[in-house]
Amino acid sequence: MDTRRDFIRKTAILGTALCLPVSLTSESRAEYPALKTRDPKKALVLWYSQTGQTRRYAKLIGCTLKRKGLDIDARDMQEFDKNLLPGYDLIILGTPVFYYDTPSNVSEWLETIPSILGTPVATFVAFGGPEGNQHNASTHLLKLLAKKGGVPVGRDAFRNITSYPTPKWDSANQISGQHLPNTATFDQTRQFTADTLERIIRGETISVSYELALREGLRMLPLVWLNKKAISKHTVDAEKCISCLTCVKKCPSKAINPLKQTVDREKCLACFGCLNNCPADAVVIEYRGERLYGFPQYLKRNKITIMEPPEFSTCSL
Ligand SMILES: Cc1cc2nc3c(=O)[nH]c(=O)nc-3n(C[C@H](O)[C@H](O)[C@H](O)COP(=O)(O)O)c2cc1C
Ligand code: SF4
Ligand code: SF4
Repeated sequence: MDTRRDFIRKTAILGTALCLPVSLTSESRAEYPALKTRDPKKALVLWYSQTGQTRRYAKLIGCTLKRKGLDIDARDMQEFDKNLLPGYDLIILGTPVFYYDTPSNVSEWLETIPSILGTPVATFVAFGGPEGNQHNASTHLLKLLAKKGGVPVGRDAFRNITSYPTPKWDSANQISGQHLPNTATFDQTRQFTADTLERIIRGETISVSYELALREGLRMLPLVWLNKKAISKHTVDAEKCISCLTCVKKCPSKAINPLKQTVDREKCLACFGCLNNCPADAVVIEYRGERLYGFPQYLKRNKITIMEPPEFSTCSL
């Protein structure tokens, strides 16, 4: 029987094969509406984040823009009223890469936002896997925003330790000792912010094209479904649970009920947000019979403290 690592490896190989570079890309730069401003005053930095990496980059972007004199709102998209989106001169959105793509709850959210005609938009992703699909995940976000009238002015991907739980937390970057982000990652984030702003001032846009033409095929792989099939147990340990409801807040699909110790397997997106955020190690997930433990436990067992940008000591958002 395949182990979880075999499954991940095979998926990665298939993914790589599907992503062989070919020259078919979809370019849509010419179709953008005019920028509504080349002098943005009020910016929104929005994020979806399960384990805090995307939120950290989003806040650093917000602090960098604030230093440049802009008014900044920095918000978790799960708590943000999407009807306020048209009121901003610049929208920067960040998400993690999940299953080689944008988390499905984020895509669904973006499908229902109001028109943001002419608003400069930039996207970024936090990722932890091998490089390859991150450009397309951020492109997918840009395409969704452009569909509502947003004008693409920036895109980037920031690498960090992955929060994808395996029984031993032994993927390459989990055991390498390089527990990103580091100062270079934060410099990249600041540079992305500065470049995005300068592009708006110059009235420039960026192309929205998938780097690897066969990605659509990859996205059609039922990765979430396959993973859900392999999850042999998903419940809550009533003895350990402290009823903090963090898992409920983090669950993007309202699938978990810690008070009843139930998980609606139909609704579950296999994002591991419940496991990766439970402070009491009370979320029980078995993958083909092997018990997983979450990101807080992984950090604790390996005595890892994730680095914070120095700006955070003076900039509050
Ligand atoms: C369910 C799940 C799926 C993931 N899939 C990918 C992936 O396909 N590619 C990748 O580079 N990283 C992947 N990752 C790693 C995340 O992108 C990475 O841990 C990210 O920094 C998490 O951001 P957050 O802390 O803001 O939630 C995955 C993580 C999880 C939990
Ligand atoms: S996050 Fe953990 S401790 Fe808190 S309610 Fe959920 S299962 Fe219980
Ligand atoms: S119950 Fe499923 S969808 Fe909800 S946080 Fe847990 S893994 Fe994600």
